[in-house]
Amino acid sequence: MPEPISASSRAEDAHLLVVGATGTLLPAVHAATSRGELVTAVTRSPIALRDLARSTRGRVRPLVRDYEDPGLRTALAEASRTRPFTGALLYCPLASPTIVRTVVDAVPRNRPVVLLLTSAHAAPTVGTEDGFPWSPARLPRDSRPSPHCRLLVLGWAGGAGAARWHTAEEISAAALRVLDADVPRDAVLGEVRPWAARPR
Ligand SMILES: NC(=O)c1ccc[n+]([C@@H]2O[C@H](COP(=O)([O-])OP(=O)(O)OC[C@H]3O[C@@H](n4cnc5c(N)ncnc54)[C@H](OP(=O)(O)O)[C@@H]3O)[C@@H](O)[C@H]2O)c1
Repeated sequence: MPEPISASSRAEDAHLLVVGATGTLLPAVHAATSRGELVTAVTRSPIALRDLARSTRGRVRPLVRDYEDPGLRTALAEASRTRPFTGALLYCPLASPTIVRTVVDAVPRNRPVVLLLTSAHAAPTVGTEDGFPWSPARLPRDSRPSPHCRLLVLGWAGGAGAARWHTAEEISAAALRVLDADVPRDAVLGEVRPWAARPR
């Protein structure tokens, strides 16, 4: 049984893996590097990652690849060989469960991994009718690829008639809150009910 470690490791030792680093989680990458963490950033775009590495003065290590391509496990092992990952933020809504599992397995089990799930995961089904309240406890068991995964379900912001999707800044801040929480927990950002009130 691995010994639990506080989510917030010392910044100078921290090595955060971010999948989907140039999109919704870009503000989280900047926040992590600003507090001194090293970030390994995964996306397909070499130009975006090169710019990110430059703008963060080398605190971002680009890992340019399509996560669906063969060799992901090896690439992640190599990226963390000299400095193991101390946490991860994963925004890869189109990735297969096998890919997500591969990424999650690259992070030691006593370190937090935050898996962002789109609001579609909270859509009403026969088992989770459109009533109140909804919580991640209602997600199917296989939504969590590993016990050290914390789930962040992305809802929407605003009230009746003014609903909107969250910004990248809001999503990134929520992801870091879940990552940094000393006590592992899942979370919902914003609202997921009533389902008909979601932004179009
Ligand atoms: N509340 C919600 O439920 C909510 C909130 C936000 C977004 N969404 C939904 O989530 C979906 C995606 O959102 P988005 O387009 O806004 O994503 P995004 O975060 O803007 O971009 C996706 C990130 O993942 C990277 N990426 C994508 N495919 C990849 C691959 N195969 N391998 C490696 N990296 C990859 C992208 O970089 P590269 O393209 O360079 O690889 C980019 O960094 C949309 O359908 C959107 O509607 C839902």
